[in-house]
Amino acid sequence: MSLLNFSIFHPVLMLSAFIGTADGFYEYMMLECVYSTSDYSDMVFLVTMSFNKVVDAQYNSTLGKFVGFNEHAEKSAERWNKNQAFMQGLKADVDTVCRHYAKIFDSAVRDKTVLPKVKLSSVKKAEGNHPAVLMCSAYEFYPEKIKVSWLRDGKLMTSEVTSTMEMADGDWYYQIHSQLEYTPTSGEKISCVVEHASSTQPIVKDWNPSMPESERNKITIGSSGLVLGIIIAAAGLIYYKKKSSGRILVPN
Ligand SMILES: *[C@@H]1O[C@H](CO)[C@@H](O)[C@H](O)[C@H]1NC(C)=O
Repeated sequence: MSLLNFSIFHPVLMLSAFIGTADGFYEYMMLECVYSTSDYSDMVFLVTMSFNKVVDAQYNSTLGKFVGFNEHAEKSAERWNKNQAFMQGLKADVDTVCRHYAKIFDSAVRDKTVLPKVKLSSVKKAEGNHPAVLMCSAYEFYPEKIKVSWLRDGKLMTSEVTSTMEMADGDWYYQIHSQLEYTPTSGEKISCVVEHASSTQPIVKDWNPSMPESERNKITIGSSGLVLGIIIAAAGLIYYKKKSSGRILVPN
């Protein structure tokens, strides 16, 4: 019996338990490939069989056999362990299934990195005794591990920094937000520094206290519109002048 035949049989039982009444029976088998080294030398293939949340039997490729955890499962385990073709197939699965897919998943997911989009914005302007609050947000990065810090004229700021945990967007990407409460002084340079596996260099965003980027964008769009308007108006005026000067008014 191949593992495939074996596993097709079990999910069918599970499915029938789901379709049936809420208090039906739930039998399931879990296949796991467990490893922590990048050369896959410590790969372990586990097949765990459970019935109604109770683990009955488990195959562990390091042990090279099934172990039953109750009287019935012990008998089954003994029977499976005697089936040499089946046991050899499971042993081969460490390579053909576990190492094979681990390589694919690692190159597609584990070793993938996506650069964060970093945005620096003002939450609160300084007013009287109240400090200013800046927010540095990093969006859509992968993997989860990231470091966000603040610099004042190149020196690390530690006090008054609050940061959220890395938040999962639910689509493999993450975001994080860090707030800095500080009293601005003129001529200083405040920067947000983001360190992430996707970039060999830290990503640095300098704060421009004169105007946030969104405001600058609005002004750029507004003045472009104004210039365009003036050009069209001027063209219209020239056209009108040309037309009217070509016409001779004849008094009668
Ligand atoms: C698999 O078996 C090995 C050897 O007995 C053991 O060290 C390891 O912890 C087992 N793995 C699991 C998840 O039970």
